[in-house]
Formats: sequence, C-alpha cells, structure tokens
Amino acid sequence: MAPRPTIGIAGLGRMGAPIAANILAAGFPTTVWNRTPDKAAALLEHGAAWTDTPGDLAQTADIVLTSLADPAAVERVYFAPDGLIAHARPGAILVDLSTGSPDMARRIADAAQEGGAAFLDAPVAGSIPAATSGQLGIMAGGDRAAFDRCAEVFSAIGKAAYYLGPSGSGATMKLVANGILAVLVQAVAEGVALGEKAGLATEDIFTVLNASSAAAPVVAAKATAIADRAYLPATFTLGLMQKDLWLVLSLANELQAPMPATSVAHDMVLAANATGKSALDFSAVALLMEELAGTREP
Ligand SMILES: NC(=O)c1ccc[n+]([C@@H]2O[C@H](COP(=O)([O-])OP(=O)(O)OC[C@H]3O[C@@H](n4cnc5c(N)ncnc54)[C@H](OP(=O)(O)O)[C@@H]3O)[C@@H](O)[C@H]2O)c1
Repeated sequence: MAPRPTIGIAGLGRMGAPIAANILAAGFPTTVWNRTPDKAAALLEHGAAWTDTPGDLAQTADIVLTSLADPAAVERVYFAPDGLIAHARPGAILVDLSTGSPDMARRIADAAQEGGAAFLDAPVAGSIPAATSGQLGIMAGGDRAAFDRCAEVFSAIGKAAYYLGPSGSGATMKLVANGILAVLVQAVAEGVALGEKAGLATEDIFTVLNASSAAAPVVAAKATAIADRAYLPATFTLGLMQKDLWLVLSLANELQAPMPATSVAHDMVLAANATGKSALDFSAVALLMEELAGTREP
C-alpha cells in the first residue's frame, strides 16, 4: 500500500482546529502552524507536530491545507518570504479551505505552478458542527488530478467534495452560496422583527416558519439564538460575513452582475458591525433589525 501523504495545516481557528483534529484522527502524519501558537496545544497533545513558519510547514508536507480569516491572512501565509509558495515541495498540493476571491485563487495557482506545486481553491460549506463531525461540503477549483489525489483527505473532513472547474471555480461557488445565505438570514431577521412588533412570540414565529415552505436548515439552526438573543459563542461571525459579502459584491461588480438583495444584506451586516456586533454570530443581524424596529433597545 502507498504510504499516506503527510499533511500540513496552517490556520487553527474555529474551522481549522476541528478540521486538523479530523485529519489527525484519520491517521495522517500531521504538522501544524498557527499565527497564535497556543491554539495548537490540543492538537500537539494528540500527536501533531509543530513548525515555526508556514514555509517550514510546506517543507514537511505532501498536502498543505489552509483555513484563514481573510485575504490579508492568505496573502501573508502564501506569499511572505517564509510562506508556502516560496517553500512548497515540487509535486506538493496546496489547498485553501478559506472563503476568498477567485482572483486570489488564480494568483496563488499560478505562483504554485511556477515552483512545481499545485493549488486548489476549496472553500467549505458547513460551520463548526460540520467541521467537527467531518461533514463539510468541499467546493474545489484547480487541477483535476490534484483534486483526485486529495480524495482521501477530503473524505476525512467532509461528506462531499465537488470538482467545479479551473482555479477560482471553488471560490466562486462559495461566494454564490454565502450571498444567498446572507440574504436568507436578512429576510428572516426583518420578518421576525415585524412579527415581534405586531405582538407575535418569537418562538411561535420559528415554530410556524420551520414547518412552512420558508423552512431552511439555516432558519432552524438559528432559531434558538435569535429567540434567546444569544449570539455568543459565534459559529460564523458578522465580521467574517462582511468580508464574504464584500467579496461577493466585488465579483458582481467585476462581472457586471447586479445583486440588489445581496447589496442590502451587505449594508445591514456593515451596519451591525459599525454598531459593535462584529464578534457576534452572523445571525445577530436579527438583533440589529429588532433595534431598528424598536422592539429592542440598542
Ligand atoms: N466559521 C464558519 O462557520 C465558517 C464556515 C465556512 C467557511 N468559513 C471560512 O473559513 C475561514 C476561517 O474561518 P474561522 O471561522 O475559522 O475564522 P477564525 O476562527 O477567525 O480563524 C481565522 C484563522 O486565520 C488566522 N489569521 C488571521 N489573520 C491572520 C494573519 N494576518 N496571518 C496569519 N494568520 C491569520 C487566525 O490566526 P490566529 O489564531 O492567530 O488569530 C486563525 O487561525 C474564513 O475564510 C471563513 O470565511 C468559516
């Protein structure tokens, strides 16, 4: 049997840490790096190795996974002098699980290819519970052969991996999906605020919604947080959702594809963050709508 590929993982945040735990549990030799080293402690106890830089990580790994907050973090981890691109082994595969821009994905893929490595943009569907239970959906773009070589790794962290086309295709699909998600949650947030102001109980609104044709997994998942106004701990923060919606609208602008509902959803997330809510779960846009409707004190 061929030896298992060695895996490097950079970015041990809310998503990266449980993803790394599943890679380790599946028996892959695993090395990790994170900007804040403390977050690696539990993984090191379970047998992961540590490196001091992303470049050192790249030198240990056949396949490198990254899960990073935003474009600035991706820029640093891939393109800094001690980053992945400068140190990736020829034949290695770099896989970015972060939500990012298709342009950045193409830029990384070109740079990786120059050094003889491959790159997949492979953002994920599903939040912390799916990352923890290994049930993510993986949306990949890039080299098909590299995607096929990652099958075993993807099945350790996800329930489905979709190959969508050349570099940037995975990033594009994720932006399509998150734009829709944000619009959906914005619609729920303002509907709930209206219902509450008219005298309905929040719990009753969700009981009826979840049994109606407007039911959706995200509506069910966020019902308790919205009804209890309990937005911590966040699974996916309003700060990250603002980043994602900006990427969606930038792509829409570049391609001249109007997205009126997404533009409003972006502005409401921006307003929520401007009033101090960026660390809360993204469903806290409902809190903002309640404040605006006057059903809750700001
Ligand atoms: N949370 C979700 O539900 C969810 C779902 C699907 C996709 N995503 C996407 O997955 C990615 C990670 O999300 P998350 O929720 O895990 O975020 P998170 O908990 O905020 O973790 C972000 C990670 O990025 C690192 N980072 C931030 N700035 C950096 C920099 N300048 N240089 C190096 N590393 C940096 C952080 O390091 P430190 O530990 O040092 O801060 C941390 O490891 C994001 O792109 C997000 O959009 C999230």
